[in-house]
Amino acid sequence: MSIESQFGAVTLDAEEAAALASLARELIGYRPGSLDPEFAKILSGDLPRSLRAALSSLLEERVLGVVVRGVDIDAARLGPTPLGWSDGTAADRSALGSAQLMLAAGWLGDVFGWASQQNGALVHDICPQPGREYDQIGAGSEAELEWHTEESFHPYKCDYLGLLTLRNPGQAATTIGHVPPDTLPDWVRRELARPVFCFLPDDAHVAEAAASESVAGMISDPVPVPVLYGGPDGPYLQVDPAYMYVLADDEPARRALAHLTDRIDASLVDLPAGPGSIVFLDNYRVVHGRRPFVPRYDGTDRWLKRVNVTRNLRASRSMRTSAVSRIIT
Ligand SMILES: [Fe+2]
Repeated sequence: MSIESQFGAVTLDAEEAAALASLARELIGYRPGSLDPEFAKILSGDLPRSLRAALSSLLEERVLGVVVRGVDIDAARLGPTPLGWSDGTAADRSALGSAQLMLAAGWLGDVFGWASQQNGALVHDICPQPGREYDQIGAGSEAELEWHTEESFHPYKCDYLGLLTLRNPGQAATTIGHVPPDTLPDWVRRELARPVFCFLPDDAHVAEAAASESVAGMISDPVPVPVLYGGPDGPYLQVDPAYMYVLADDEPARRALAHLTDRIDASLVDLPAGPGSIVFLDNYRVVHGRRPFVPRYDGTDRWLKRVNVTRNLRASRSMRTSAVSRIIT
């Protein structure tokens, strides 16, 4: 079965798009200057039924991801694509899109952020940054962003990754890879279930690691974990070849990882996403990356918004400063 056929899809009609945008304006007005994720969760109960149904199919693991099309991003108000995530004016200009992304995420769970990523923002800007063209991070462009599990290095990685496309002039696609674990040979599954794989924080986290005790510790002292985890039938997957290694001299584990990597390479597909589309991915079951593109740095470049969603915020309590904080430190 193709990966695309295992994605849910919903195209909002004019009435649904207007209803979603109206909820977003309510969220924006609730606390001007900062989108309140708790209020977004409350409002998410009023999302169009077609959207809630598609998102619920993701919660129930009946699909690998969901694509939502027809979201009003108020393109006339966006202004230029920022040259990095730290452009303070970008959040306001793109608030309508961000609010809708947060509303949809609110139906799935709790939006959270990282102290070591974009200064703890809950909604991230993904846009090419001068000087980072060949880096394996969201701000890269000319090098393919190799497929990976989002925050594979962290025990409290997101369940779902949400991406809203604001603009994508070169149609640089998000890539998606998936291998049903039950199609892997038994010996590969056995090896990948052993805790002998070490993951390192990616360069985006490393650059801001001083803001996060846990991330700093994972750089110096990664804890070995399995690649396949959860139930033995239909296990979940965490893998990120660019930022992981196998404990010394473990040849069977290395061969199993190579087998999995080849299978994911062969499965990789492009997920085209134009302006006004939101994609939610199951970060426990699919990997994602990005095709290369040539940035122009003229204000018209690719610009996405990103959120991390967890189903269990409490699990990370020891790494958050309070019960209500949504920032992992
Ligand atoms: Fe990613």
